[in-house]
Amino acid sequence: MRSSSGVFRTKSIEQSIKDTEEPEHRLKKSLSALDLTVFGVGVIIGSGIFVLTGTAAKDYAGPAVTISFIVAGIVCALAALCYAEFASTVPVAGSAYTFSYASLGELPAWIIGWDLVLELALGAATVAVGWSGYAQSLLDTWGIPLPAALQGPGGDGGGFSFNIAAFLLICVVTAILVIGMKLSAYVTSVVVAIKVFVVLIVIAVGAFFIKGSNYDPFVPEAKSPEGGSGLDATLLEGIFGYTPTVYGVMGIFTAAAVVFFAYIGFDVVATAAEETVDPKRDVPRGILGSLAICTTLYVAVALVVTGMQKYSELSSDAPLADAFKAVDQPFWAGLISFGAIVGLTTVCMILLLGQSRVFFAMSRDGLLPRVFSEVHPRFRTPYRSTIILGLASALLAGFVSLDELATLVNIGTLFAFVVVSLGVIILRRTRPDLPRGFRAPFVPVLPVVSVAASVWLMLNLSVETWLRFAIWMALGIVIYAVYGRKHSRLGAGQLPEQRT
Ligand code: ALA
Repeated sequence: MRSSSGVFRTKSIEQSIKDTEEPEHRLKKSLSALDLTVFGVGVIIGSGIFVLTGTAAKDYAGPAVTISFIVAGIVCALAALCYAEFASTVPVAGSAYTFSYASLGELPAWIIGWDLVLELALGAATVAVGWSGYAQSLLDTWGIPLPAALQGPGGDGGGFSFNIAAFLLICVVTAILVIGMKLSAYVTSVVVAIKVFVVLIVIAVGAFFIKGSNYDPFVPEAKSPEGGSGLDATLLEGIFGYTPTVYGVMGIFTAAAVVFFAYIGFDVVATAAEETVDPKRDVPRGILGSLAICTTLYVAVALVVTGMQKYSELSSDAPLADAFKAVDQPFWAGLISFGAIVGLTTVCMILLLGQSRVFFAMSRDGLLPRVFSEVHPRFRTPYRSTIILGLASALLAGFVSLDELATLVNIGTLFAFVVVSLGVIILRRTRPDLPRGFRAPFVPVLPVVSVAASVWLMLNLSVETWLRFAIWMALGIVIYAVYGRKHSRLGAGQLPEQRT
């Protein structure tokens, strides 16, 4: 048995489930497998496919970005099997955070929760910036461009610029979430239908404009990047002292580490476990179903878009719409922009929802002040955590560029995958008795491969991204040492410990 003062104290799974039954901290159970799949697709398809496809093909992989999507999809599928097992065993709010608390211990759980706040808060900001790009592109078409100072970093003006559209989007979405789950689930399903329809249009209509010559070369020859600094090199290049390169076979992996963002969200489905009617059955179905649908669509979109336009000419702001403009199809381009604007709204909404739920779970355990886990008396939503984190995301979206946000989100999420995969192995050993609605196949081989695959993609991210991630995590550890460790309900003996 472990010491209750230790940072590796674990919360019992039975207690995790029981916590969700305290009336003042209880969420409504209303979601089905179909709701979760719609939720999943609603959050997965977003800025990744709509925006980063262009950057990844243009700067790192050429038409071989299609292979990058397959690589990133495989990494996610491995992690998804581990997530599904965990979520079906510990069906309470909080996702990887809760799972880690029950298996790895309090400090690892805090680290993962802190990491998830990074993933979700910054993820929402990233999507809002992508949304703003498509919104501005439509406004430009109508002849009403925003002033340079309000376009956001990287806009036309050069100097200081605040992304007003992204900021306002997050404020509105936060208000909707405070009002309640019901409204957001309804809005989500309508919007998801529009978004999937637009993606299908890109594939079906775009296929008629593919030119075989655009696929030549499919894997452009590796070369040195223009004007990059040492911090732009991937960690892998940094460790082995290679000269940084783009394109070629390694470029496929760098692009995979970037477009990985397009898959983020299936793990968020697990954060809604507590609000699901039958989590053991429905959560694995929701996670795996939404991931399968999205992988298929992404590979098709990447193949079509790089076939429509030479990779070097793809746009970095609105590549799907601009590929249609390039083949003189303004009508379809406008429709795609409209779909992107509507679709990215739900992505932002679900990321913010997941984030407030993780914060909620951490506060319920006493690792963050308890005021954050009180639910609104009328709306029954964790309104305080929703508002505070919504505001933080809105400010980040206003001040930071899309690429910087996305890569930081990716490294954080890949790190969470590593912890969850390890957690599956540990929990099988420490609690073989627990009923598991879904069992990942080939344990421990599959989780070990999942860890290796996630670490590989992390190594393909830049040294600068690693530094930012290290700073964020160090800050988290300081907060735990100063606050969480002392206020933990488990540490104070208010909760029974897991016997190991
Ligand atoms: N996967 C989501 C996106 O691409 C987060 O926007």
